[in-house]
Formats: sequence, structure tokens, C-alpha cells
Amino acid sequence: MENNIIEVKNVTFEYSGGESPKTVIKDFSIAFQRGSFTVILGRNGSGKSTLAKLLNGLYKPTVGDVFVDSINTKDEATEIEIKRRVGMVFQNPDNQLLASIVEEDVAFGPENLGFEPNEIRNRVDNALKAVDMYDYRQKSPHHLSGGQKQRVAIAGIIAMEPECIVLDEPTAMLDPRGRNEIIKTIEKLNKEKGITIILITHFMEEAQNADRIIVMDDGVIAADDKPAKIFKNAKMLKSVGLDVPQTTELLIELNNNGFNIDTNAISIEEAAEKISEALHSEGI
Ligand SMILES: Nc1ncnc2c1ncn2[C@@H]1O[C@H](COP(=O)(O)OP(=O)(O)OP(=O)(O)O)[C@@H](O)[C@H]1O
Ligand SMILES: [Mg+2]
Repeated sequence: MENNIIEVKNVTFEYSGGESPKTVIKDFSIAFQRGSFTVILGRNGSGKSTLAKLLNGLYKPTVGDVFVDSINTKDEATEIEIKRRVGMVFQNPDNQLLASIVEEDVAFGPENLGFEPNEIRNRVDNALKAVDMYDYRQKSPHHLSGGQKQRVAIAGIIAMEPECIVLDEPTAMLDPRGRNEIIKTIEKLNKEKGITIILITHFMEEAQNADRIIVMDDGVIAADDKPAKIFKNAKMLKSVGLDVPQTTELLIELNNNGFNIDTNAISIEEAAEKISEALHSEGI
């Protein structure tokens, strides 16, 4: 237990609002180790966002339990204890930034937690430095790029010093540069601050440095493995409506044609590197 920041135990979740109840998470069990970096993949409607909301108590299981640091999310009295341990970042940075000045926005979280002004000042400065946005602290969020806004949103979460951050497609609305900024920031927070990361994404290449990938399909776990293993499993990926990354496909195809190339490369840069290594070793 101590080694896991979140444990999901036999959770079923049902949306009951509509005409007929809809079960979207089905007898789901998983544990997230402290300090780990997990990516969750899955086609539209597979239940990723619903799972994310179960992880920090925004939704309560219909059946089963979610424990954050051994605290049951069903326990109403501990809502704030859960929110400060597990922060959430969503798709649209514009919906997450409320203040007219960057540093005021980042201060919302620690203010709500009731810290002293000095402590708030320290937390805001540290959080903005952690996402490389300290120089923008006096600016209005409206003048920032999408990637910068999303980094400010992440700073707002970090200022609460969470143990874990769940990010639900944080790069979906960003251009490639913004996406890259966010992924680098997330990787740094995981490596340097030891924050547990749970990243939901549709971009395979964002998963390449994760410790683990979970593939969801129709409310259950279709696969749970290291990125290299997941990306090579074309059959499984196809069966859940996902594609093998094109770079992996190219490397596998080259190997079918007699090359001997390491296929553990998802970014174009890495794939190019592996191909040139293989060519050099053959004296080409
Ligand atoms: N508030 C809701 N009420 C009823 N059904 C819902 C609600 N939110 C989501 N659903 C349904 O639950 C299922 C899972 O939705 P969810 O948003 O968790 O999937 P997702 O994997 O995040 O999808 P996407 O990749 O499109 O973000 C879908 O069939 C969706 O239509
Ligand atoms: Mg979603």
C-alpha cells in the first residue's frame, strides 16, 4: 500500500443521468506507484476521462473503491485531503485560468488551502520556476501562447504541492511546439520532483518516455506494459482501434527486409538515429 499513491479496487462506474444508465468503467483494478509516469491510451469513449475523474474523487465509484494515499475517495470528510494530493489538468487551458495576472492565478490553489501569505509567495514562485514561466509572472494569461497557458495551469496545480498529477489530454489543443513544452515539463516534474504522473493522451509519441502504458478499451484494461512492448503489439493496438506509431511500423518493415534495427524508437529523431546506427554498422 505505502508504495502506491493511488489504488483502484474493483471499480464499476455508471452514468445514471440519461434515459438508461450507462456503465463505462467495468470492474476495474489498478495501482499507481509513487513517482511513476504512466500514460493512458484508448480510443474515444473508452472511459479515460471518467477514470481520471475517479482518481481524484471528482466522481465516486458506483461499485468498488478508490484509495488515494490509503484514503477512500468515498469519504466526504477527506475531499480536500484528496484534492491536495492529486491535481488535475484538463484539455483547455482557457477554462483553467481565471485571474488576469499569471501569479494571481497560480496563487488560487494555495490560497484556498489557507496558507500564510509568505508561504503562498514561495509556492507560487517555485511553481512558476518549475514550469519555466517565472519571467511571465506579472503578465496577463491572455497574451500567452497555448503551451504557456497550459504551463501556468500546471503551475497552479504544482503550487498545491501534490504527490500526483492527472493530465487529461493536456496537449490536445496545442500546436507541436506547445505540445513539446508540456511533455518536457511533465517529464521534468516526474524526474526532478518525483511527482507521480498519469497522462491521458491520443499522441503515441508522448508516451515513449513513460514507465508504463495502460491501454483502455470499453471500460477495461486491454494492455498494461512498457512503451516498447505496447508499440510493437500491432495486433492488440488494432483490436482496440489504435494504430502502431508510423515510426515503429517503418522500423519493423525495414527489419522484415533484412535490416537489424532496434525498434524502440517512436519519435522521428530517434527512429532516424536507429536507422543511421544500423546503416553505419553495415558500413553504408
Ligand atoms: N456525463 C456523462 N453522462 C453520460 N454518459 C457519459 C458522460 N460522460 C461520458 N459519457 C460516456 O461514457 C463513455 C466514456 O466516456 P469518457 O469521456 O470517459 O471517454 P474517453 O476515453 O475520455 O473519450 P475521449 O477520448 O473522447 O475523451 C462514453 O461512451 C461517453 O459517451
Ligand atoms: Mg476524454
